[in-house]
Amino acid sequence: MKLKPIVAAIATTVLASTSFAAEVEVLHWWTSGGEAKSVAELKKMMEAKGHKWKDFAVAGGGGDAAMTALKARVVAGNAPVAAQIKGPSIQEWAQQGVLADVSGAAGEWDKLLPKVVGDAMKYKGKYVAAPVNVHRVNWLWINQDALNKAGGKAPANFDEFFALADKFKAAGMVAIAHGGQPWQDATVFESVVLGVGGAKFFNDSLVKLDPKAIDSPTMLKSFDTLAKIKTYIDKDSAGRDWNLATAMVMNGKGGMQFMGDWAKGEFTSANKVAGKDYACVATPGTANAYTFNIDSFAMFKVKDAAVQKGQLDLATAIMSPEFQEVFNLNKGSIPVRSGMSDAKFDACAKKSIVDFNATAKSGGLVPSFAHGMAVPSATQGAIVDVIAKFMNSNMSSKDAVVALAKAAKTK
Ligand code: BGC
Repeated sequence: MKLKPIVAAIATTVLASTSFAAEVEVLHWWTSGGEAKSVAELKKMMEAKGHKWKDFAVAGGGGDAAMTALKARVVAGNAPVAAQIKGPSIQEWAQQGVLADVSGAAGEWDKLLPKVVGDAMKYKGKYVAAPVNVHRVNWLWINQDALNKAGGKAPANFDEFFALADKFKAAGMVAIAHGGQPWQDATVFESVVLGVGGAKFFNDSLVKLDPKAIDSPTMLKSFDTLAKIKTYIDKDSAGRDWNLATAMVMNGKGGMQFMGDWAKGEFTSANKVAGKDYACVATPGTANAYTFNIDSFAMFKVKDAAVQKGQLDLATAIMSPEFQEVFNLNKGSIPVRSGMSDAKFDACAKKSIVDFNATAKSGGLVPSFAHGMAVPSATQGAIVDVIAKFMNSNMSSKDAVVALAKAAKTK
């Protein structure tokens, strides 16, 4: 009888199953080059604490597919241990009674986070999520070489922007690298609204959903501007992933891209340098404004004490200075934890930090509509549908404003 190998096999199994403190399954949508490098840092830290990282990655920029997958899992009674959830959605999930209190990990968080951020992570006074970063959405990424050839001046307003786009077009490039997916359409749209109308108009129309602001000449002008932008996008843009559009700017096929600074994660991961290979500037007309997008992880209620401990460890790791630095260096964002040194960050991130602080004082700091920071998810979805329809049809600006006003009433 060959008993020995069987015993040995059993021993190995037992050993394997107890060789980690807890299995922590984490849902996220960070699958591009820069994103994968960033999330790998969190995995490393959890493994260093003795946990097993179970990756629940759902590809799809902006997270729509990930949120659909999350809903299915929660409905099936099989929620992951933690999930990338942000903005008002944290409250929506908490109201369902499925999120866990991780205040045990929070220690000094009240002091380390801006009050609005801390409040967004809490439900009924208890922390149910941990914030990772601050992304700025109103960025324009430009191929530096092409910009130099076109005179070297980044566009400060839409007139200059379209003049530059014409030069790129004349040089045989795709002037505006874009991926035709609803969330990317919305990302461009919100920067246009900000540039055309300013921060107060942005707040009134896309955050407060004030009918007067929505049905206004400024909103009409925003759609007219968006319509003009469409004419500089190539025919192959339908369905293109955002990181492929970023790659177009990198390799000179594309001139510029409207995208949040996760695009910088792509440039960084391809060893491209700001000021040399590409330029990062605020989107036209938005130098004094900042659309913020804060990623965070919410924890789901679990029974197993070891897994509960894993959740506290995850929350603690996320807010640690070490993680806040290394993650954000890779991700393109800036630390959300206050008091961090900017020494290792590049020129774009340094600018983001300066502008974040300046706009927080001036009133130019606004929550990103397109990235789930501003309105309930159902309302956001309805408005994004209108924007996507506008991008993919001959809908007039006037009709778009009417449709937007209707969508804004979605609850
Ligand atoms: C998230 C980023 C992510 C981007 C592209 C945004 O909504 O906040 O973390 O990199 O989508 O997927």
